Amino acid sequence: MKTVVTRSPEEAAAFVRAGEVVAFPTETVYGLGAAVFDECAVAKVFEAKERPPDNPLIAHVASVDKITTVVRSVPPAARRLVDAFFPGPLTLVLEKHPRVPFLATAGLDTVGVRMPAHDVALRFLAACGVPVAAPSANRSGRPSPTTYDAVAADLDGRIACILAADATRFGLESTVVDCRSSDPIVLRAGAVTLEQLRAVVPTTALGGALGESETPRSPGAKYRHYSPRARVVVVHSLSEPPTRHSAYIGLDSPPDAAAWTLVRVCTSVDEYAHELFSFFRAADAAGVSTVFCQEVPPIGLGLALMDRISRAAHD
Ligand code: TXA
Ligand code: MG
Repeated sequence: MKTVVTRSPEEAAAFVRAGEVVAFPTETVYGLGAAVFDECAVAKVFEAKERPPDNPLIAHVASVDKITTVVRSVPPAARRLVDAFFPGPLTLVLEKHPRVPFLATAGLDTVGVRMPAHDVALRFLAACGVPVAAPSANRSGRPSPTTYDAVAADLDGRIACILAADATRFGLESTVVDCRSSDPIVLRAGAVTLEQLRAVVPTTALGGALGESETPRSPGAKYRHYSPRARVVVVHSLSEPPTRHSAYIGLDSPPDAAAWTLVRVCTSVDEYAHELFSFFRAADAAGVSTVFCQEVPPIGLGLALMDRISRAAHD
């Protein structure tokens, strides 16, 4: 398939209206979208990225008033989170509207819904005319794409269109929160921090392996994820110089910086989060065999960053 590359949200949306699959930018990572109510189109998303069918997709809406086209109701705690964080990098899991096909939700009675804080994404979604089901626009298991180049590397020739724009602002995915009860549960840490959520709904809890409760995490959390081809090793600090063909990313400078194939020293956790996935891809392109990632405290954005690093390190 020839993939059309465009910077026009309207041209890209025409493909979605025709039942095709389109990669589009958001403030977190690029998404791979199809019209949510069109089962055939949704099936193409799973096919293009070779995604396991038991991993549900997020429905992206162009405005807050469209939320109720994909969910049955918005309970009070969810409403408060919508008021505080939409548009933004937050996905709310709620009971799905009967119109949303089970293919999009991987058989679940719930659906994730989010409104991206990104002008191009919002113009694209508005022009699609329906909510857009979209996972991240990477081949399954690979790091999420934060640039147009990363999308093209994974999906060129496999999808109808790429809506090209600049590198994404956060570089990590949205926070996924189960909002069916009055005590929201974080299923996947992300760009909206636990501290920010608790400032709005103080009873917000961390789900499953993320923390305090035994609640299952997002279905997607059980898969090996976000990984470069290189081995990923988490380090507290490094005192030894590198082995051959190694890369390092972290907040502190590594010993013997010139001996590494690739080094990225970040000045903040935000910058580290922004750079991680593109660094993984750069490491693969440079033929690196091991990527050392410096550990950061799991507070603020550090929680989501350490979640992605430890899952990339786990195989
Ligand atoms: O920032 C983002 O969320 C990006 C952009 C494109 O919006 N999307 C994204 O989608 O990261 P994806 O499919 O790569 O990750 C969605 C996560 C998965 O872990 C999935 O299991 C979880 O959200 N999820 C989706 N719907 C769910 C549901 N109904 N219940 C529980 N978890 C759900
Ligand atoms: Mg993904």
